[in-house]
Amino acid sequence: MSLFSRKSQAADAARAELLSVPKSRGASSIPVIDVQNVHRIYESAAGYTHALKGVSLQVKRGEFLCIMGPSGSGKSTLMNLLGCLDTPTSGTYRLEGVDVSTLDDDELAELRATRLGFVFQSFNLLPRATVLRNVMLPLTYTDTPVNQRTERAVRALTAVGLPPEYYDHRSNELSGGQMQRVAIARALVNDPAVILADEPTGNLDQATGKMVLETFRKLRERGKTVVLITHDADVASWSDRVVHIRDGHLLTEEQERQAVAEGGAGGRGRT
Ligand SMILES: Nc1ncnc2c1ncn2[C@@H]1O[C@H](COP(=O)(O)OP(=O)(O)OP(=O)(O)O)[C@@H](O)[C@H]1O
Ligand SMILES: [Mg+2]
Repeated sequence: MSLFSRKSQAADAARAELLSVPKSRGASSIPVIDVQNVHRIYESAAGYTHALKGVSLQVKRGEFLCIMGPSGSGKSTLMNLLGCLDTPTSGTYRLEGVDVSTLDDDELAELRATRLGFVFQSFNLLPRATVLRNVMLPLTYTDTPVNQRTERAVRALTAVGLPPEYYDHRSNELSGGQMQRVAIARALVNDPAVILADEPTGNLDQATGKMVLETFRKLRERGKTVVLITHDADVASWSDRVVHIRDGHLLTEEQERQAVAEGGAGGRGRT
């Protein structure tokens, strides 16, 4: 069945409400995402890995940006920083004008809970919890009254077209495509300003993947900022802008073309 069946009025209404224009926070001229000269160096028993090498990136409100790059180029590292799940080794990151390095753990948790929606590469659902509980989880960290949480979760699940008979299933009893719908519903449930998605269509068939991308475009049309990571140029073609990442360096499309023309070894020294 279609993920977003045009026939379902309930789904349309739920989607319209979830995708409604957010109240703007701060002046619209301020980029929602503003990353300046960020480095991330991992330290492990095996030594140091310089995963991001001076990355700078601005994303405007209502922009749908794709980040493309080969495996190991630093995509998930960058996404974790954008999602305030990790901190840079150096450089600054401002989210909606706020320098996140000035926030304590509680403030960061609140920021994540209220301003950001995540769709992870591997879904990150709680396998033994029901679909409904998985979708309600982000609301635990907000001041949403308990009696409204179920209602909001149901609205989000309706918006992504998961039939109600699955709401009480444990998430480990679902197919990959169904799990991804639950993961997207969970990302939408707190009505975030920014949606961060790491390979959200990687495990989906073409038709379901297209529905997911249509959802992201709708979100963007309603003023949400969407940052999507992908290996796939077809997926990237749905976005407003593509940036490439190679070996921890960010390249514009123009720089990427030049790097490919020069033999594909580009990236060093470019931001
Ligand atoms: N926790 C970590 N500790 C040490 N090194 C890490 C850690 N996480 C990532 N790395 C390294 O940082 C580099 C970038 O990894 P990252 O996960 O960001 O790549 P990616 O572009 O998301 O790749 P993929 O497309 O395979 O998901 C890789 O060399 C990786 O081995
Ligand atoms: Mg990754």
